[in-house]
Amino acid sequence: MRNGLFITGTDTGVGKTIVAATIAYALKQRQIDFGYIKPMESGILSDDYLARESDAALVKKAGNLPESFAEIVPFTFPEALAPLLAARRAGVLITKTNLLNSVKKLIRPQRLTIVEGAGGLLAPLCENFLVLNLIKELNLPVLVVCRTALGSVNHTLLTLDRLRREGIEILGVIANHTASNPDIAEATFTSQLTEFDPVTILGELPYTAGLRPDFSDWNRLAAHIDIETLLNLTKSINTQQ
Ligand SMILES: Nc1ncnc2c1ncn2[C@@H]1O[C@H](COP(=O)(O)OP(=O)(O)OP(=O)(O)O)[C@@H](O)[C@H]1O
Ligand SMILES: [Mg+2]
Repeated sequence: MRNGLFITGTDTGVGKTIVAATIAYALKQRQIDFGYIKPMESGILSDDYLARESDAALVKKAGNLPESFAEIVPFTFPEALAPLLAARRAGVLITKTNLLNSVKKLIRPQRLTIVEGAGGLLAPLCENFLVLNLIKELNLPVLVVCRTALGSVNHTLLTLDRLRREGIEILGVIANHTASNPDIAEATFTSQLTEFDPVTILGELPYTAGLRPDFSDWNRLAAHIDIETLLNLTKSINTQQ
């Protein structure tokens, strides 16, 4: 049985990790057993960086996860590039079989697994293998994180459209306000989006300065995500064939 959700985004830097950390915190508060996997993370310059500033570090801390970093992020690369390019430039060959085996080994079916992609839906992970392909292989429903700035309606509709065309189940969207000065585009984002797509908006995160690396007030952000609906949708999709 599948038991998890995949967090993708409309781009890199849209807030997938902030959303993953917020959900991790909320699950911990509810004493729900869960794991977090970031299959490939770029820009990991050192062990110290991994332990303090990586996506893995942030979610591990927010969710108080006991796993080692190796059990959260099987592949890291020093350069902040899409994984395929970062691996090539590091002289490493990772096949989709390596990647899938490594990720599947970390999944424990008895608990909810949150998997965070890299970049957006069509970011290249390995040769002939995009984030989209990983989602299909893992057969997980998807939570889409997007920005709310001008252009985000287009990016989000494109992402949702591609997910639907691929037959991937969509849990909903979390709209993330990453700009400090909201404008009309930001203020009207969700109404503009839902005018063109029937997707469920599962949360809207306010702009919050200083989210990385030492943020601790996850409670405040968690209030902006409809965790119960997210969990119910995830459960109901996960239990379908
Ligand atoms: N609501 C917000 N308010 C202020 N800053 C934010 C907000 N959400 C995200 N950020 C900042 O934007 C940056 C990117 O966020 P995050 O790392 O979560 O993106 P990502 O989608 O996970 O990126 P990647 O593709 O690298 O995994 C971080 O520095 C984060 O602190
Ligand atoms: Mg991230």
